[in-house]
Amino acid sequence: MMDWTDRHCRYFLRGFSPHALLYTEMITAAAILRGDRARLLGFDPEEHPVALQLGGSHPKELAVAARAGEDAGYDEINLNCGCPSDRVASGSFGACLMLEPDRVAECVAAMCASVSLPVTVKMRVGVVNSHAREPRVSIREAVTKYDEADYESLHEFVGKVRSAGCQVAIIHARKAVLGGLSPKDNREIPPLRFDVVERVKQAFPQLPVIVNGGIRTSSEALGALSWCEGVMLGREAYHRPFVLSELHAALYPNEPQLQTSREEMLERMAHYTRKELARGGRLSSITRHMLGLYGGQPGAREYRRFLSEGAREAGAGPELLRNAARLATGYRVST
Ligand SMILES: Cc1cc2nc3c(=O)[nH]c(=O)nc-3n(C[C@H](O)[C@H](O)[C@H](O)COP(=O)(O)O)c2cc1C
Repeated sequence: MMDWTDRHCRYFLRGFSPHALLYTEMITAAAILRGDRARLLGFDPEEHPVALQLGGSHPKELAVAARAGEDAGYDEINLNCGCPSDRVASGSFGACLMLEPDRVAECVAAMCASVSLPVTVKMRVGVVNSHAREPRVSIREAVTKYDEADYESLHEFVGKVRSAGCQVAIIHARKAVLGGLSPKDNREIPPLRFDVVERVKQAFPQLPVIVNGGIRTSSEALGALSWCEGVMLGREAYHRPFVLSELHAALYPNEPQLQTSREEMLERMAHYTRKELARGGRLSSITRHMLGLYGGQPGAREYRRFLSEGAREAGAGPELLRNAARLATGYRVST
């Protein structure tokens, strides 16, 4: 998730679930081609399995970026066709690409030809182009209605990217509005249409489908898994990472359970922090993902303040994490 997640966040989340497939935030193909590739693509081996999400619309650039992702050790290459931000649309990638299925198919084919990894596509159930919308139809009406024309466009899009080699369709079950809604509103106002995603699954029984949008509990996830191959969690996993442990326990009842405690998490992150600081990393870049760890627990507010203020102090290091745990719970970590 752009501006939220990064490799430190993925390392943290991995501690809650050994098997969840973690995704990078969208990284543009152009940045990988022309930017600091090692910084953009570097990750810790413990993050596996991890997928690289690319943004772009030029088949050749995407092919080179996908190959760079394969060389860097990623497990999957994903193309973003779901981001509705104006900034992204003006670069001609993200959700606006759903209006150009042939172009996306060309991109997917080029990516598949350049890597041996699975190539997947993240999409929405539909797109409302507010610039092309009839003026008498409000945005709210346009996002709320879902008619046969909407479904036919989605069906055509999925069919074309699948024929081009897309191995998994990841579908955010909301329409995206291009222009007229902020990215945040675009994740909240358009109603969730899991029924549409289920219809896609029925129409493409051989294509693995992952549903995304508004999933907050392991029972909601298990409900969706009765008709599709996977669920993708965004905000809930970021704000309440224990949902990943709950899902792990529900999906792998025969595996030894993680019994992850908050203090074990902090100890794991203290080790990681020591390694990262030695490489020149910043403590606050790591701790910013961990502020919600004690959410809903006694001492949560004190922990949060202690961690965020302490991480900015000169000379602060891994011990800050242990002291934060001690503050929140009275737990003592032996060093
Ligand atoms: C801050 C933020 C940044 C996001 N960035 C991306 C992104 O880079 N790529 C992507 O596919 N989706 C991105 N998303 C969308 C999420 O992946 C997800 O589709 C959406 O939040 C709905 O799922 P949720 O209800 O589980 O959060 C972002 C969401 C948020 C909140």
